[in-house]
Amino acid sequence: MAATSLNVGLIGLGTVGSQVAERLVTGQPQLTRRAGLELCLQRILVRDVNKPRAVTVEPGLLTNDPDLLLDDNDIQVIVEVAGGDEPMHSYLERAISAGKHVVTANKVVMANHGMQLLTLAAEKNVDVYFEAAVGGGIPLISTFRTDLQANRIERLSAVINGTTNYVLGRMGTDGLALEDAVKEAQAAGYAEADPTDDIEGFDATYKLAILGSIAYEISVRPGDIYREGINGIEPVDFRYARELGYAIKLVAHTQRHRGRVEARVHPALVPLDHPLAQVEGADNAVFVEGDLVGRVLLKGQGAGGRPTASAVVGDLIDLARSIRRGVQNRPSFTFDDRVGVVPMGEVVTRAYYRIRAEDRPGVLAAVGQVFAEEGVSISSFIQKDAWVEEKTAELVITTHPTEDTRLQKARERIAGLQPVRAVSSFLRVF
Ligand code: NAP
Ligand code: HSE
Repeated sequence: MAATSLNVGLIGLGTVGSQVAERLVTGQPQLTRRAGLELCLQRILVRDVNKPRAVTVEPGLLTNDPDLLLDDNDIQVIVEVAGGDEPMHSYLERAISAGKHVVTANKVVMANHGMQLLTLAAEKNVDVYFEAAVGGGIPLISTFRTDLQANRIERLSAVINGTTNYVLGRMGTDGLALEDAVKEAQAAGYAEADPTDDIEGFDATYKLAILGSIAYEISVRPGDIYREGINGIEPVDFRYARELGYAIKLVAHTQRHRGRVEARVHPALVPLDHPLAQVEGADNAVFVEGDLVGRVLLKGQGAGGRPTASAVVGDLIDLARSIRRGVQNRPSFTFDDRVGVVPMGEVVTRAYYRIRAEDRPGVLAAVGQVFAEEGVSISSFIQKDAWVEEKTAELVITTHPTEDTRLQKARERIAGLQPVRAVSSFLRVF
C-alpha cells in the first residue's frame, strides 16, 4: 500500500526549530495537500526538555535521548536545526546509515562534511536537503541544483551573514557600538550560538564553501577560504566610505581562474550603486554570474526563525513529493577534489587605507614613495580630520587594483614610517 505519511524526527527546538514545529503543527492540511503525504512530527530532540519553549508541542514529543530518534525505524526523516559540528555530524551520519533522509540547516556540518554525507546518502538511496544552511529563506541551493545547472558559473559575490549585515547597518547608520548591535542581533535570533562565528566571518566562510563547491562542482573547504571579520571597523570608516561613494559590507566572493578559484570573506567598501550595497538589515543577497544566464541577483531574509523555517519545511515538502513519486536519491552534485584556492596574496584587489600621521611637510611624499616602491597606484587621496593640538591628521587613500601581497607590504611599511602614528584601518575596495 502506498505511504500516506512522512514521519519526522526534529533535532532542535530553538529559533528555527520552534518555527518549523509551529508550521508542521498548524500548517496542516495545506502542507499535506502540497506534499502529497502527511508530515507527522514524531519526536523532538533538545538538550533540556524542561526549558520554556516559544511553541506549544505535546510534552510527550520532547526527549533528550538521541537514540529515540536515530534508532526509531518509524522515523523516515531527520530534520536537524540544532547547529555545530559535533554531535550533529555523527547524528546525521547515523541517520543516513540507517536509511533515513536528512533535512538540515547546519552550514558547519555541510561545509565540513557535506561531500561525505552526500556520498553516503547516495549509497543508502536517501536524500540530504540543506536549503536552509545558506541564505536563510532565499532559495539558493535549489536554484543552483536545478535552474542554473545549464551554466558555467564564473563568479559569485554575496552578503551571506545576516548578523554582520545588521550590525554594520546599525553601526554605520545609527552610530551603535559593535557590542550593542550584536546584542540586538542576538535578541532578534539572527546570531549563531556563539556570535563570534558571525562577527569573525566563520559563518560566511561555511556558506561560501557550500556555495562555491556547488557553483564550480569542486571541493571548497572552509579552511581554504581567506577570512577576516568586522572587528576593528570604526564609525569614522563608514563616514569616509560614504563620502567616497561606498557602503561597508562583509563580502563573500568567489571567482573562477584558470585551474583554480578565488574564495574570500572580508569586509569591503562596496560602491553605493552595487546591488550588494543595498542589502539592508539581516537580509542576504547572492549575485551570481553564469555564462548563459548572465547576472542573477537572489535576495531576501537571510536569517531569522521564520524565513529559515520556510526553507526547511520547503525541503520537507520536496522530499515528500520525491518519495511519493518513488524518485528518491535525486541527482546530486559532483565535487572535483583537485582544484585549489588562489592564495589571498595573489588576489588582485583595491584597498582603502586610513592613516593617522603627523601633519607636516613631507609626510605625504613619504607615504607616496612607499606605494610607488611597492608598485601600488593611488586612485584617490584626501586629507581628513586634523588634531591641531597633536599636529596630526588622517590621510584616506584608495588604490587601483593590485596584488594583495603588495597592498599588505605597503601597509606594513607605511605603519613603520617615522611620521605615521598608525594605519588605523585597511579595507579592500570591491
Ligand atoms: P538555537 O536557537 O540555539 O536552537 C538550537 C536548538 O538545538 C535548541 O533547541 C537546543 O536545545 C538544540 N540543541 C543544541 N545542541 C543540541 C544537542 N547536542 N542535543 C540536542 N539538542 C541540541 O539555534 P537556531 O538559531 O535555531 O539555529 C539552528 C540551526 O539553524 C543552526 O545550524 C544555525 O546555524 C542554523 N540557521 C539559523 C538561522 C537563524 O537565523 N537563527 C538561519 C539559518 C540557519 P535546547 O533548546 O534544549 O537548548
Ligand atoms: N547567524 C547566521 C546569520 C544565521 O547571521 O546569517 C543564518 O545562517
